Amino acid sequence: MALLEGRVAVVSGGGGDIGGGIARRFAAEGAAIAVCDVSLEKAEIVASDIRAAGGRALAIAVDVSKPEQCEAAAARTVAEFGKITTLVNASATVSPDGNVEKIALSDWQRALDVNFTGTFLMCKYVMGHIREAGGGGAVVNIASSHGHFGLPGRSAYCSTKAAIMHFTRVLAIDYGPHNIRANTISPGPIDTERSLRRYGSRENSNRVRGVGQVLGRTGTVEEVAAAAAFLASDEAAFITGTDLLVDGGQTSFKGSSLERYSS
Ligand SMILES: NC(=O)c1ccc[n+]([C@@H]2O[C@H](COP(=O)([O-])OP(=O)(O)OC[C@H]3O[C@@H](n4cnc5c(N)ncnc54)[C@H](O)[C@@H]3O)[C@@H](O)[C@H]2O)c1
Repeated sequence: MALLEGRVAVVSGGGGDIGGGIARRFAAEGAAIAVCDVSLEKAEIVASDIRAAGGRALAIAVDVSKPEQCEAAAARTVAEFGKITTLVNASATVSPDGNVEKIALSDWQRALDVNFTGTFLMCKYVMGHIREAGGGGAVVNIASSHGHFGLPGRSAYCSTKAAIMHFTRVLAIDYGPHNIRANTISPGPIDTERSLRRYGSRENSNRVRGVGQVLGRTGTVEEVAAAAAFLASDEAAFITGTDLLVDGGQTSFKGSSLERYSS
């Protein structure tokens, strides 16, 4: 039997690379998907791919920093698919770069609003539906290896990712009595359109972020989606309140390059 047969998943940032990869994998595992994204166009591409592959999917325009839009997305998912059992938060916005003197308050606030408060708001309006569905449920919030260690000039991004992990631990505590599990995934360097924009090309992304790492390469969207499918499924029935690093060992290694240590 497929891992997520009978589940209904809301995936925020579902039009993006990692969110889209998770939505596609969950659908392949039997779940119906509400693909939520601030870009309806991107959400619609993922939803129509899923439908074309024989799955069930609905695209919904949601800005996760807007409470009324999060609430409406949850209600629409229930109206369409009858329930919600699973939530994935994968939305994120471009975070400002620079030290605290250079970051504008408005840019800092926007990063917090989308990356962190957006995760809170989606949980706020979805958790009640998951509880009502009964039979357990699961939340997978996407953090980052940069929530475990810092990066120069990226205080907003790194802080929101660390905050998501701690928020999720408390969510797990609050909903454990309802048999609803909550975990984070911390991806390391994953090749996506966003990293392509940041690093210019896949080769450069791999050179900057992959070479010298433990596995010597960047990761794929599919590798993150596989971890998410596991955490959302009954295979992970006794796993809650934890973070799963999908980072090719990046966080385990404190050096900048393995090369100089190799024998
Ligand atoms: N790519 C990586 O290497 C990497 C590494 C670690 C963590 N992550 C995390 O994975 C997640 C997905 O990242 P990605 O690389 O796929 O990026 P992405 O840009 O492809 O996906 C992010 C999605 O969020 C959507 N979004 C932005 N603002 C929104 C808002 N206000 N409301 C709703 N949706 C909004 C975007 O439209 C986009 O589709 C993010 O949380 C990111 O921080 C990525």
